[in-house]
Amino acid sequence: MAAYDIIDHSYDVVVVGAGGAGLRATFGMAEKGLKTACITKVFPTRSHTVAAQGGISAALGNMSEDDWRFHMYDTVKGSDWLGDQDAIEYMCREAIPAIIELEHYGVPFSRTPEGKIYQRAFGGMTAHYGKSQAYRTCAAADRTGHAILHTLYQQSLKHEAEFFVEYFALDLIMEDGVCKGVVAWNLDDGTIHRFRAQLVVLATGGYGRAYFSATSAHTCTGDGGGMVLRAGLPLQDMEFVQFHPTGIYGSGCLITEGVRGEGGYLTNSNGERFMERYAPSAKDLASRDVVSRSMTIEIREGRGVGAHKDHIHLHLEHLPPEIIHQRLPGIAETAKIFAGVDVTKEPIPVLPTVHYNMGGIPTNFRCEVVNPTADDPDRVVPGLMAIGEAACVSVHGANRLGSNSLLDLVVFGRSAAIRAAEIVEKGKSVSSSAAATDFALERFDRIRNAKGSIKSSELRLEMQRTMQNNCAVFRTGEVLEEGVKLIDQTFAKKGDMAISDRSLVWNSDLVEAIELDNLLYQAVATLHSAKNRPESRGAHAREDYPDRDDENWMKHTVIGVSDKGETKIGYRPVHMYTLTDEVQVFPPKARVY
Ligand code: FUM
Repeated sequence: MAAYDIIDHSYDVVVVGAGGAGLRATFGMAEKGLKTACITKVFPTRSHTVAAQGGISAALGNMSEDDWRFHMYDTVKGSDWLGDQDAIEYMCREAIPAIIELEHYGVPFSRTPEGKIYQRAFGGMTAHYGKSQAYRTCAAADRTGHAILHTLYQQSLKHEAEFFVEYFALDLIMEDGVCKGVVAWNLDDGTIHRFRAQLVVLATGGYGRAYFSATSAHTCTGDGGGMVLRAGLPLQDMEFVQFHPTGIYGSGCLITEGVRGEGGYLTNSNGERFMERYAPSAKDLASRDVVSRSMTIEIREGRGVGAHKDHIHLHLEHLPPEIIHQRLPGIAETAKIFAGVDVTKEPIPVLPTVHYNMGGIPTNFRCEVVNPTADDPDRVVPGLMAIGEAACVSVHGANRLGSNSLLDLVVFGRSAAIRAAEIVEKGKSVSSSAAATDFALERFDRIRNAKGSIKSSELRLEMQRTMQNNCAVFRTGEVLEEGVKLIDQTFAKKGDMAISDRSLVWNSDLVEAIELDNLLYQAVATLHSAKNRPESRGAHAREDYPDRDDENWMKHTVIGVSDKGETKIGYRPVHMYTLTDEVQVFPPKARVY
């Protein structure tokens, strides 16, 4: 291995990632007097949270009667009973103060005529335990993530958190099962940095880019999940990948569910509003797994639109132009640029597109990472937290409701800060052996000096095609079996990767190869977990096992992946209990949409 000079840093807490969750945790910790660093691969306001459109859920009741218990019921049901109910209770309760807090921080929410925060309808959000549609999703037009991210960054600057921008976190520093920091590469000048801290918080986002077509930014490469697997810790519920019903056909850009919340609807080639058949009550606002499957069936049965009958139409041309102008200006622009469509006159061509990973790094509702054993399924990993899409708390279970993601970011970013203040001792230094850092450097050096025959872009395409074809909206044992074989082969080819640029400064070839390594670990975890679950639940729709099997499979999958690509699968019980006795535990019921 080449010799690398290491620049050392010492903090109470290091947050990796500067999206909504990372920033909320960063300034929350700085506010509590902890010496806090935030390491981020991209400038904070370019994090993927900026792309969130439709809104953030909270039972404020500004536009219709609402209650956090209704929100909790919807979230448990939406998760297809795989969500941990203590964490869901925490999120839905805390949603209300979290939104008021955001308002006070300066998020420019859209307003009702009386000046209250504007709330729109979103799929699966109901009042009175499924009886009527709730208007629960707080919106800043269709740029809610943008508004929130900028506000959180301003708060972080106000609280003087220290930022390390365009630093790529490579691996955790682990010793005797305890996390002691993280090693990072400064992309701008090529230096290597060791951040020692009592607590590392992974807020690195999802791994949507394991797929060919995704609404996720190209930076969503699951860097935290990769680090966790390499540290010998498992990921949880990786088989559950959400397809957003309305990605623009061709480019995959997101068209918010808020379009349907404002009255937009889907049609097939017969001009039929087919969602009325699949979900007579919720129709176009059924939960995302239901809408994505219905669209896929329409296309498969020959009722898709376009020359190849391979997509669906989303209409909003019947909506008053002033509504589009006020509430959906962003998607009107996106549709024009990426589909050449004037939304006031023509429908948008759309297709279910990979959008969100329900699975991730297992944590409790205090955001502490969990490494289960047979005796203790909730055993905490000292020194390590995970939040946001990187984590699996699990509040989304097998399927996330739209607008519960921005909520997850701010509620659990805040929860991480509260917990950090309880467990971190201000100013206490942390030591670690050289060997713990060498682990990160050896991998970095191996990839940097890779002299094989396959370009990382070729391997990436191979992985993305396998994920797109073999781990899609509908799955069968046969297709998954083939997917497992293909992804294992691709993983094995990592050893034959070729890197052409060996420099350390702004080396995008090396960045992409390291990102691909992270993605590959998680692609393997996803396909193996999906093949292993013989039932249909939430986003995991097995045609060969069409029913949910609560007797045998109401449990979380946990999976480890070794550096050779070998997998080890285990399970954790779902938390069917709540934090207080204010709400009854929901037993699984038959699916009614
Ligand atoms: O459709 C949307 O605006 C996406 C929201 C979400 O994924 O929560």
